[in-house]
Amino acid sequence: MEKQLIIAIDGYSSCGKSTFAKAIAKELNYLFIDSGAMYRAVTLYCMRRKFIGFGSLDIYGILDELKDINIDFIYNPDINKHETFLNSENVENEIRSMDVSDHVSRISQIPEVRERMVELQREIGNNKGIVMDGRDIGTVVFPDADIKIFMTASVDIRAQRRFDEMKGKGIDADFEEVKRNIIARDIADENRDISPLKRADDAIILDNSRMTVDEQMEWVKQIIESRRDDS
Ligand code: DC
Repeated sequence: MEKQLIIAIDGYSSCGKSTFAKAIAKELNYLFIDSGAMYRAVTLYCMRRKFIGFGSLDIYGILDELKDINIDFIYNPDINKHETFLNSENVENEIRSMDVSDHVSRISQIPEVRERMVELQREIGNNKGIVMDGRDIGTVVFPDADIKIFMTASVDIRAQRRFDEMKGKGIDADFEEVKRNIIARDIADENRDISPLKRADDAIILDNSRMTVDEQMEWVKQIIESRRDDS
């Protein structure tokens, strides 16, 4: 049987990591996990419980209930996609809202939240062919991943992509606000103390500012073939 690979895709917000990761998973018939959706789901839980607001953070409340937060990815045959569930509720659209985007950086800086998410991510990926996208997949979650890709694209292009994605999901959005949020999250992601966003030494850089998903797929297929030949 062909070796089941772990493919780690890290990079800046709204680079198209999930779109690319999903396309690779589909091509290889692998599991796709959007680790950002997990941090977003925890953030939504904390917002609903009023553990986080503008200027406030109830860290004890969060730590106390962290064990009660369950996140699943459940396949929806109607749209042929996995959707994010928070304690059995489908939150796939709600976690993409501007409100969640505004609070997620603070929640993802909490060490205990990161520990719990990393544990879950490793459990999900255990012994499976998997494509996981995020910020620390190649550096922390799966440092021995078979293929590591670090994605980047210009801020304007990323803002446009996030804006289009939100519009497509019927979420109200303002382009300048989306752009400001992306810049703020870049800074937060790169500068947090634990697991900051950085390229793993052995990750291959992909700047997809001017590439279509098909072009990215051609590029990655060659990499997958060459890694398989090596192993
Ligand atoms: O990929 P995304 O933009 O949906 O991720 C949402 C936030 O979650 C992002 O601002 C940083 C955080 N995140 C993280 O800290 N580590 C990950 N592995 C994935 C996301």
